[in-house]
Amino acid sequence: MKFDRHGVGSTKPLGVVVLVTVLVALTGCQGPFPQSTFSPTSEFADDLNGLFMLIFWWGVVVFVGVEVVVLYVLYRFRARPDVPDPTPVHGHTALEIAWTLAPAMIIVFIAVPTIQVLWKDAGADTSDALQIQVVGHQWWWEFRYPEYGITTANDLHLLQGRPVELQLTSADVIHSFWLPRLGGKRDMMLGRTNRLVFTPDSVGEFLGQCAEFCGTSHANMRFRAFVHAPADFASWVEGQATPPAPEATLSELEQQGLEAFRAVRTPASNSCIACHAIRGISFGVLGPDLNHVGSRSTLAGGILDNTAENLAGWLRDPAAMKPGSLMPAIGLSEEEIAALVAYLRSLQ
Ligand code: CUA
Repeated sequence: MKFDRHGVGSTKPLGVVVLVTVLVALTGCQGPFPQSTFSPTSEFADDLNGLFMLIFWWGVVVFVGVEVVVLYVLYRFRARPDVPDPTPVHGHTALEIAWTLAPAMIIVFIAVPTIQVLWKDAGADTSDALQIQVVGHQWWWEFRYPEYGITTANDLHLLQGRPVELQLTSADVIHSFWLPRLGGKRDMMLGRTNRLVFTPDSVGEFLGQCAEFCGTSHANMRFRAFVHAPADFASWVEGQATPPAPEATLSELEQQGLEAFRAVRTPASNSCIACHAIRGISFGVLGPDLNHVGSRSTLAGGILDNTAENLAGWLRDPAAMKPGSLMPAIGLSEEEIAALVAYLRSLQ
């Protein structure tokens, strides 16, 4: 670095780099924070955030302590002419005890509150909790409400102020449930059920996603949680519990869609009914339950807005919308697609 006559370095390029870096970093401070664990909206997420802050501040104490000692030693023992080398310290019992005890104490200060939070969540009283079975699939989410006989996909509906107990499992590989502002992450494994308990404290819409690499479209495995006030939740339940409209009330196009849905194709795995369930029509379980699919916020693992255009694109070529999609392109004609879109969207 060159110095001008004021002793100031010609730091223009470096200054610009620092300024730009700081500005870019500051943009991270601008809200909203849809997936930030730092704006918790459940008591469990509050506890997790508290633990993070505790560990962060212990990290700050250790960092500052170490840096102060390093700077002091650099200054105090720097090489100077005519000063002999300092005497090395060996076998200083007090020092040995001090630098063994200090880290051990810090670990205790971190471990005790961590275990308290783990036990609090694991031992939470769930007698009054809303029970929801969550099944991870490549690459979408299934949410079942045994209390109400409802099954939905990619939209998780919760109740403000009522504890929820999620029973998490997988239909295939390992996934991880992560709803940053309410709680998580928790692994979802085939043949095992993990629990997650929390009580949402704010009405709103919250984003979640899979947090364990689970194949091609892991990054496209998202979901939305809707936390409702009690009256809104009751009307959502009522809507979902309603059976599909009788066939006779469907429009002509919707009826054609229902026929296309029911059609048995070759190979049989190309039939909609082989994988999807609609009450009174089919019982497939490999793909999302399609009861009330028209009322959902998204399609295809939470990545597409639930619009007629996106649904048509999805039916035409699922893998083009979600790479690796396990739903095949089944070679539907444009007429069949238009009819299926009309029928599926009528399932409100
Ligand atoms: Cu499921 Cu990543």
